[in-house]
Amino acid sequence: MCGIVGYIGKRHALPIILDGLKRLEYRGYDSSGVAILTEAGLTIKRRKGKIKDLVELVRHETIDGTMGLGHTRWATHGKPSDENAHPHRAGDVVVVHNGIIENYTELRAFLKDRGHHFKSETDTEMIAHLIEDHIKAGEPFEGAVLSAVRLLKGSFALGIMHVKTPDRLITVREASPIVLGFGNDENLFASDMPAILPYTDRMMFMKDGTMAVITPDAVRLMDFSGRGLPTEPGRYDISATMAEKGGYKHFMQKEIFEQPHAITDTMRDRILFDTKDITLGDVLLEEKGLGSVKRIHFVACGTSYHAGLAGKYIVEEITGIPVDVDVASEFRYRTPLVNKGTLTIAISQSGETADTIAAIRLAQRQQSSTLGICNVIDSTVARESDQVLYTHAGPEISVASTKAFTSQLIAIYLLAIHIGRITGRVSRQQASAYIDTLVSLPSLLDAILKQEDRIVAIAKEYSRYSDFLYLGRGISYPVALEGALKLKEISYIHAEGYPAGEIKHGPIALVGPDMPVVFIAVKGRVYDKIRSNIEQVKARDGKIISFTTADGREVPELSDAVFFLPAIDELFTPVLSVVPLQMLAYHIAVLNGTDVDQPKNLAKSVTVE
Ligand code: G6P
Repeated sequence: MCGIVGYIGKRHALPIILDGLKRLEYRGYDSSGVAILTEAGLTIKRRKGKIKDLVELVRHETIDGTMGLGHTRWATHGKPSDENAHPHRAGDVVVVHNGIIENYTELRAFLKDRGHHFKSETDTEMIAHLIEDHIKAGEPFEGAVLSAVRLLKGSFALGIMHVKTPDRLITVREASPIVLGFGNDENLFASDMPAILPYTDRMMFMKDGTMAVITPDAVRLMDFSGRGLPTEPGRYDISATMAEKGGYKHFMQKEIFEQPHAITDTMRDRILFDTKDITLGDVLLEEKGLGSVKRIHFVACGTSYHAGLAGKYIVEEITGIPVDVDVASEFRYRTPLVNKGTLTIAISQSGETADTIAAIRLAQRQQSSTLGICNVIDSTVARESDQVLYTHAGPEISVASTKAFTSQLIAIYLLAIHIGRITGRVSRQQASAYIDTLVSLPSLLDAILKQEDRIVAIAKEYSRYSDFLYLGRGISYPVALEGALKLKEISYIHAEGYPAGEIKHGPIALVGPDMPVVFIAVKGRVYDKIRSNIEQVKARDGKIISFTTADGREVPELSDAVFFLPAIDELFTPVLSVVPLQMLAYHIAVLNGTDVDQPKNLAKSVTVE
């Protein structure tokens, strides 16, 4: 995890780097630091805690250099502390790092034998010493960095400065992301676009195994053997304000409210209204073998995994193709039965989740074709998958994922209808009915979002309970899992999601007045079944909060609190039913005063195992 930023140009580097770090804080917030090179020499400031603590530390100082590095940390090697905070320095070499060095112990021992002394427990400080060791052996700055990175094993995105070479910064990418930003008389790099967006829209994502040497007016790119590579910046039409809060109290709230817009963007240009069909551009054509897929296998983590679980119901129902779903960290360490006839679909908002990347690579080694459903353009999953279906939901900053989930569901509906049309399983008439439902979703979502007050009232009544059970059946079961995940992620309240039909096999033993039970009870195949589950909980004095499309009185009468959802085809209900659950978790967290956008111990992108 961690976020890094580098700036070199004519302006004061410190405010640009601090601003960039704030925009990357979603990547980790255990500690942060900056290194600025001024005419008077090098200044390094580091602080345990959030960026605001670092800002406080430098508030009254004059640090006016025009090049520097910044870092916000999610601890891997060494506990969060001032000493372990980046940047790390060895002699004249300063390094910030995102990733993990796997052969760190051997290299550290080797450097200790050569007389290097370490001040921190981090693998990053070792990298600074390794580069310094090569410089001391007579290599120039660039050559020393190349020699050092060739010895490193693991994942690393680095920002490097050398006090005696004050006209350039170096950045390196191997299995952790780096975006280069090309400005006028200034250049930047960062772990993600939001840090660069206020300064330039000309950007380029570095590839693994590459290094960039950056001066105010040029960026030189090379591979680890030193062979020059072309720099090809593209224009990214995303405004910096899209990555800001825009009047909402938290990014999570903003992103919840962006969902009607986000899912519209996922559908945009993919639904053909004249023929009532789906087009997925130049990807996913029949020639690419989509018509002969025998099995589909979703791999993902966290919220994206829940989208995959819902995807099983959606794809099997629409296409008739059998679907498996795996947590990526499980998939990668067994012998999954994916092969030539399988389409492995990696779902990942960031496209940088380490386990999901490993899963897609394993699937490819086993001859499976691969498809990434990603939000971040040019991310690793997007680039490495055979094909990619972008969700186009816009930057998601809050650690707890919301709009990424609903837009992933939309991508799955589009894909399933598309495959169904190719195989002939879905008739034009059926496709047209599905499409009508899809296009009705944004305005139905709007109507749900307008009822935030109702959710606030429920949240007020239930915010003090310490355990929650979330129950759903069929397609609402993954929604129950996602609702429970949202609550525990941001409010630290224990919450479990369960298939409602399973309560008699364990969870009902916990039911009583102290544990609210959240039911997702949508009209459809198993509605009568879930209604009787509600009765079973009621009979044991459980507190019942229902989210229901029921038009009758039974569910409301059985419930202590009820939220009504618009009635639509059951298969499409997750896009609607998950939203009030997101809002409930959000408002309970706000009432309990937790740090909603940056919950403790979590990070937005889990780029390490
Ligand atoms: C982390 C985030 C979650 C996210 C998961 C998967 O745990 O906190 O919000 O769902 O990673 O991330 P991905 O980017 O692969 O969807």
